[in-house]
Amino acid sequence: MQRQFTYPPSFEDSLTKALASYQLTLKDSKALAKCVQALSDFFIHKPDDATPWHETWAQVAYLCYYLPLNATRLGAIIEEAEKRNFFAGLERVIDFGAGLATASLTLSEKRSFKFQLIERASEPQKIIEKFFPQFQAEEWQRTFSAPKLKDPGKTLAVFSYSLTELSDIPDWAYQCEALMLVEPSTQQDGRKLLQLRQKLLENGYHVWAPCTHEGPCPLLTQSKTDWCHDRVHFAAPEWFNKMEEQLPMKNRTLTMSYLLMRKTPAQKINAARVVGDQLKEKGKDRQMICRGSEREFLAWMHKSKIEQEIPRGVLVEIPDDIQKVSNELRLAKKIEEYL
Ligand SMILES: C[S@@+](CC[C@H](N)C(=O)[O-])C[C@H]1O[C@@H](n2cnc3c(N)ncnc32)[C@H](O)[C@@H]1O
Repeated sequence: MQRQFTYPPSFEDSLTKALASYQLTLKDSKALAKCVQALSDFFIHKPDDATPWHETWAQVAYLCYYLPLNATRLGAIIEEAEKRNFFAGLERVIDFGAGLATASLTLSEKRSFKFQLIERASEPQKIIEKFFPQFQAEEWQRTFSAPKLKDPGKTLAVFSYSLTELSDIPDWAYQCEALMLVEPSTQQDGRKLLQLRQKLLENGYHVWAPCTHEGPCPLLTQSKTDWCHDRVHFAAPEWFNKMEEQLPMKNRTLTMSYLLMRKTPAQKINAARVVGDQLKEKGKDRQMICRGSEREFLAWMHKSKIEQEIPRGVLVEIPDDIQKVSNELRLAKKIEEYL
């Protein structure tokens, strides 16, 4: 029961054409990996500097590494959003810090929105317009000033890996009906996102996912180290695996921290989110879940002979009569996924 994702198939043709403009192909594993390593080193050594979009190696690295990986993560979040009917009534998207339009490209594969992109560098727009003709933006904006909000009540503001330097969303975003916030699943960024969740709840937003409740986040309030993050398996194509063989970092699974929020309340659901990996302990297995402001675990004793693998990130139905021992909900039979 793995949750497997990949980037939209239409990207492959665009990536091939874009790389050809640098005299590269998807099979040039070593040359591609060198560019990825250079951008990765840049992010590690200069975390506060702007993405060096003017550098050819940074463009190549984004195209063959960060774009496919982030689009795969976003694909999983978009699938969750679709399950919750999160996009109902939304017509416009503002993609802040759009980079190579990662979020907009991925969303446009599933839904027809009107897209406004905000990106301070000019190179990404040129690459997207030339090599991703299937995607039509209504507008690219380069300034940091507030975008023109055309219909805020039908607008989704997207922040995909673009909040890292900000402690809050910009003022204009508070006028938008819906928010999709995606951050690296590091302890620091993840916990910052949980603090922002609290602030957004206080400012009239409702959380649609991953939370199934609007109480204080137990990972933030009951722990000093936890942070909420999802994990999916990456169904990588062969060219990606070959490139990755040349790199120290491996991406068989991808993690991300995210929040989907709207001013409209979400439909109440009687389910819990699985927010941890399975922990094998003496005599029992445990897995962290979230359904309220308590930090809780599902637990099943080995003597009960329950064999199950619950993917991190899914929703599960908690039986009303479940036995609770301390912070453990003891399962008497296999858990059902909430669909
Ligand atoms: C880490 S990249 C994320 C790109 C893309 N959203 C993704 O998910 O792959 C952050 C981007 O935000 C842009 N950026 C940062 N601050 C910005 C600002 N104040 N206004 C517009 N763009 C900004 C950077 O140029 C960079 O392309």
